[in-house]
Amino acid sequence: MRLDRFLSNLPRFSRADARLLLAAGRLRVDGATVRDGRFEVREFSRIELDDELLQAGKPARYFMLHKPAGVVSATAHPEHRTVLDLLDEPDKHELHIGGRLDLNSTGLLLVTNDGLWSRRLTEPRSRQGKVYRVTTEQPIGAEYVEVFARGMYFAYEDLTTLPAELRILDAHNALLTLHEGRYHQVKRMFGHFRNRVIGLHRERMGPLRLDPELAPGQYRALHAEEIAAV
Ligand code: URA
Repeated sequence: MRLDRFLSNLPRFSRADARLLLAAGRLRVDGATVRDGRFEVREFSRIELDDELLQAGKPARYFMLHKPAGVVSATAHPEHRTVLDLLDEPDKHELHIGGRLDLNSTGLLLVTNDGLWSRRLTEPRSRQGKVYRVTTEQPIGAEYVEVFARGMYFAYEDLTTLPAELRILDAHNALLTLHEGRYHQVKRMFGHFRNRVIGLHRERMGPLRLDPELAPGQYRALHAEEIAAV
């Protein structure tokens, strides 16, 4: 939210007070003086008025996890183990999963408490390339490439998918790059050709590639450059 809004939401300050404090240069966000009330502050921002702490700021947390098959991309589930069960971190309930994968899909999952950041990667319209290695039951036809590149009509959502790039690796394996994330999108695209997906592994989301050092079920914190790249 905007800094002026943050201030005037506190019972002590009116909108006029907030404007005066800002104009006087009495506010600091993460150590830097801010005079512009439109400045966006978040729950992670440390906000000070003179030497008084108004908000301590929370640490933003970012992890990449190698999702194994048979684990649900949810924070709670009555039957299956969840992705959160794989994390040994405090206050896990504050974390959410960026870009879910189906129960039997594997590969890159992001877990964070920063909703704005994960939305940049995962919103259907984010246009960030997501790369999947796909294994199919039937041979993959050369004609799929053109159909996926043109976009496919999904009647349920009444939309045409964005152009997707398919690179056929061999008869039953391909790399598919999507620039959006629709419900069961990969399976539905191959389903168009009555070809069942029997293996689905996400290798990349935007600039983030699954660390090859991570075995299925393992995770690590993102590096500062990885967080900033999104
Ligand atoms: N598309 C699918 O069909 N399943 C996934 O898990 C991810 C993308």
